[in-house]
Amino acid sequence: MDILFNNQIVSRDSVSIDIEDRGYQFGDGIYEVVSIYNGELFEWEAHLERFVRSAKEIALTLPEQFDLLKENIMRLIEDNHIEEGYAYFQLTRGTALRMHAFPEPQAEPVLTGMVKNATSPPITAVKAITTEDIRWLRVDIKSLNLLPNCMAKQKAVEAGAQEAIFIRDHYVTEASSSNVFGVKNGVLYTHPINNLILNGITRQVVLRLAGNLHYKVVEEAFTRDELMDMDEVFITNTGLNVCPVIEIDGMLIGEGVCGPITSSLMSAFGELIQRNGKEKVYTE
Ligand code: PDD
Repeated sequence: MDILFNNQIVSRDSVSIDIEDRGYQFGDGIYEVVSIYNGELFEWEAHLERFVRSAKEIALTLPEQFDLLKENIMRLIEDNHIEEGYAYFQLTRGTALRMHAFPEPQAEPVLTGMVKNATSPPITAVKAITTEDIRWLRVDIKSLNLLPNCMAKQKAVEAGAQEAIFIRDHYVTEASSSNVFGVKNGVLYTHPINNLILNGITRQVVLRLAGNLHYKVVEEAFTRDELMDMDEVFITNTGLNVCPVIEIDGMLIGEGVCGPITSSLMSAFGELIQRNGKEKVYTE
């Protein structure tokens, strides 16, 4: 399998990462996951914008010829004949003597990327647990430091669930690898964009689709008690898109099935991805 390594498409076996790569030792880097539909990247500009912002927020200099990134990823998609799947890419602060402070002079950042086929069958509903949000206060940065997310997801798996919803000071922030929405009396609720959640690209698309469908959306934090009392709960991320949460901490949400508003957003999202790359997609 070929991957992207600093602007070169090379065989995965030929790449070696130094033991003192700061991504490897400190998690000092950032990443993105972008869906591929119809052999084309989905919401590329939004992902790129977030990546550039993440880099800026951790004072990470983008590598030379960064503008070739899309072209290179498209080459990987074509070479690997990916119709539906995802692209992953990450940037680390490079290789330097192991010292916590940023290397001076700067090290060459290391950019890597790969593409994968979609795993089938797609997940159609999940059960979740709630767990304390023990992450740092800058989770708006899509950093490689995912240990609390991995631990939360593992806790969910061990409880027979698929996702862990984070609670910070009684309020729902997001989940271990997705954003969280609740629906009560026809109104959608989700945590506002700030340092306590990742500004999910799927979340952005869902907000636009909800607008098109004339749903009222309130971007305000809600408590765990309010979460448990929602008529519908769903999560959004690259890969799952819109996915109903039918049970939380062993309690059914609503009737324990996918609710009508979640279902309509899933359909709207489905139409959007069917058209991806085929025509200019307008969601506003
Ligand atoms: N994660 N919140 C967290 C903590 C996430 O890790 C993700 C996505 C999201 C949703 O973001 P988006 O809609 O842009 O995918 C929210 C990716 C999929 C991952 O780490 O694999």
